[in-house]
Amino acid sequence: MATRNKSARPAGKTARVEVKNEVKSSGKPGSSRNHGTIEPAKGKLGVMIPGMGAVATTFVAGVEAIRKGLAKPIGSLTQMGTVRLGKRTDGRSPKVKEFVPLAGLDDLVFTGWDIFEDNMYDAASKAGVLDQRLLDELKPFLSTVTPRAAVFDHNYVKKPTAAHQSLKAFEKAMRDNDEMIAPSMVYAYASLIEGVPFANGAPNLTVDLPVMLELSRENEAPICGKDFKTGQTLMKTVLAPAFKARLLGLSGWYSTNILGNRDGEVLDDPGSFKTKEESKLGALEHILQPALYPELYGNIFHKVRINYYPPRGDNKEGWDNIDIFGWLGYPMQIKVDFLCRDSILAAPIVLDLVLLMDLAKRSSELRGLAIQEWLSFYFKSPMTAPGLYPEHDLFIQLMKLKNTLRYLKGEELITHLGLEYYD
Ligand SMILES: NC(=O)c1ccc[n+]([C@@H]2O[C@H](COP(=O)([O-])OP(=O)(O)OC[C@H]3O[C@@H](n4cnc5c(N)ncnc54)[C@H](O)[C@@H]3O)[C@@H](O)[C@H]2O)c1
Repeated sequence: MATRNKSARPAGKTARVEVKNEVKSSGKPGSSRNHGTIEPAKGKLGVMIPGMGAVATTFVAGVEAIRKGLAKPIGSLTQMGTVRLGKRTDGRSPKVKEFVPLAGLDDLVFTGWDIFEDNMYDAASKAGVLDQRLLDELKPFLSTVTPRAAVFDHNYVKKPTAAHQSLKAFEKAMRDNDEMIAPSMVYAYASLIEGVPFANGAPNLTVDLPVMLELSRENEAPICGKDFKTGQTLMKTVLAPAFKARLLGLSGWYSTNILGNRDGEVLDDPGSFKTKEESKLGALEHILQPALYPELYGNIFHKVRINYYPPRGDNKEGWDNIDIFGWLGYPMQIKVDFLCRDSILAAPIVLDLVLLMDLAKRSSELRGLAIQEWLSFYFKSPMTAPGLYPEHDLFIQLMKLKNTLRYLKGEELITHLGLEYYD
């Protein structure tokens, strides 16, 4: 959740929309027009994180290290990425953070909830992702970030029920302490009712529920999710589009992971793995479109496994065996062994989502849309409007994201047609 003091509240509840400073179209003859207005990024931006574990502490400690000039924001599109504008010959490629008005890292303030009482210094030390020397240097700041009391029970809700279909039914179920209301739903509800954007990095169905869509739209609180696209699925959504682009067939994809952090422990449990499995399996089907290419992708054996293996800690090994076939059906194999660090891959995603969701909230064009599909780039199971299939191909997702920024700023969208260079 990313919240601005008061200004994050839905229009109508508090008066604070600063019209005079809005970024408006230049209106120059021949120039394209901005789409809508974007309020400036003023004041502090509050980031509230349900669960101060490995990802959250790596993100917050990382932001502080970057602010102190001790490290670079590697992996963050908002901090290091550029957007090409106009023709390839124009030489205009500003940084994303210079092109659209994003909050600065110095404006971020953090809090969150956890079932443990550890402050961020202790939690980060236990997570064991970052070097202890770095954490010690950041201790004066990290130890001031302490969790609030969690909403907690052991229920986990497998399927949406009547309690999730409307705001009225949901609020009644909350009052009745209905077990169909999972803790994650309470956090999402609290955020959206206040008009605060909510990004779901976990694989649960919390913001996919009709009640959350209703709240999001009503309070102009953008939502997106779900499940950060970090290690193995990131690789899948790079490789699978390459096979499809070259019309190479696929007969099997076996993926296994070993990891030793708390997330690994949770996912070793078959019940908790179920939603993760669904979120990991969906990507291939959507990218490869077996209905359009039955001879190539109509019969794929796809298996995903996650095994808890404590010696690895947060350092996951994601191993893929891919059986493909080419010309005349000749089989080939690809092996990928990604020795990755889960939270190191997730932290820049959290940063980007905080800044881009805040941008969405300040954009008159985006804030009323509820689902921010342009942020699919960051998720294993991107949310879409009902009836629309999700876009999983990483490079299409990136184009969608950058074109959305160009669109907001009235710049020409890039289609890669390129015929104009040969006139
Ligand atoms: N690359 C990645 O690390 C990655 C990728 C995709 C998704 N995710 C998701 O991100 C989330 C965080 O991952 P992590 O590795 O930091 O896990 P973690 O186990 O280190 O941290 C989760 C934290 O949430 C706390 N918690 C549990 N129930 C809570 C509740 N009801 N209220 C408040 N806090 C609660 C736990 O005490 C723990 O501190 C998970 O849902 C995970 O599936 C992570």
